[in-house]
Amino acid sequence: MNVYEKLEQIKKDAKEHIGLVKSIHALNEVKAKFLGKKGSFSEIMMLMKDLPNDEKPKFGQITNEAKQIILDYIEEQKTIIEAAIVADMLKSETIDVTLPGKKFEIGSLHLLTQIQNEIEDLFVGMGYEIMEGPEIEIDEYNFEKLNLPKDHPARDMQDTFYISEDTLLRTHTSPVQVRTMLNNEHKNAIKIICPGKVYRRDADDATHSHQFMQIEGLVVDETTSLSDLKGTLLAVAKKMFGEGREIRLRPSYFPFTEPSVEVDVSCHNCNGKGCNVCKGTGWIEILGAGMVNNNVLEACGYDSTKYQGFAFGMGVERIAMLKYGINDIRLFYTNDVRFNKQFK
Ligand code: DAH
Repeated sequence: MNVYEKLEQIKKDAKEHIGLVKSIHALNEVKAKFLGKKGSFSEIMMLMKDLPNDEKPKFGQITNEAKQIILDYIEEQKTIIEAAIVADMLKSETIDVTLPGKKFEIGSLHLLTQIQNEIEDLFVGMGYEIMEGPEIEIDEYNFEKLNLPKDHPARDMQDTFYISEDTLLRTHTSPVQVRTMLNNEHKNAIKIICPGKVYRRDADDATHSHQFMQIEGLVVDETTSLSDLKGTLLAVAKKMFGEGREIRLRPSYFPFTEPSVEVDVSCHNCNGKGCNVCKGTGWIEILGAGMVNNNVLEACGYDSTKYQGFAFGMGVERIAMLKYGINDIRLFYTNDVRFNKQFK
């Protein structure tokens, strides 16, 4: 094979090889094989020495042309490979917009939050403001100013989580009454409800929880009477347990109210006839209330000869349990979705 034939052979080989290459990396290797320092052309250059001198320039020219042709093959193949890479990418990254989407389950408010919202709506509609107070409270507000002096039995250490001698986890939302009256510089009328968490040193069981929720109410002005309290609580009973409900007040005792009452609602389950929900009585106790004790008004800077008020406090879990027939208070705090999602 003479040198011209050899050159033709190289071109032919190159064309075949290059056409088979599938990656840029392999293409670079093939390029080195043909055009690199130790490639096919270095051999041609060796052979060129043996050509007659007058043929050398001509041969040099065809050699260069051959190199250029091979470079063109490589360039062509490169374009083909790159197009294939893009096509592959497009294929693997295609999104089928006709596939059904993933379904995201929408959560819902916790039942206690729902009850709280319902009661807040009712009271905001009646012109009340919503107040909040801290869960870590001072003894003075949780007890002392609510007419619960140091030796009062309701202050039994058993019931209270003390943090220090005079700080504790509030045992009820009533201290928010104290805070609101103390903070009122003008010592004028107040109309608030205070929802929030409270804590008691109880062993948890079906009806006790060391943490639960209350909603407190306080109205202070110059004319408020027990009948205003009764009308207000009737509205609560109807809102939470249905239009047909009635309420009754029974005398009771709380240090911070005088007189104090326990409020019963006619049973929503049997309509007052007597069933297992109301233990056969037709009535269910739902909250404590009363006229604000003069000692409390005075302790909070109000003139009790001029101002009077009513207050009430209800347990949110209790209302939820009665309304939905829930028999274990711990269900509110154990976050079992099977329970929670029943109240969407
Ligand atoms: N603080 C009382 C409790 O936790 C509930 C209560 C009763 C609140 C009568 C009041 C009230 O405001 O007037 O048991």
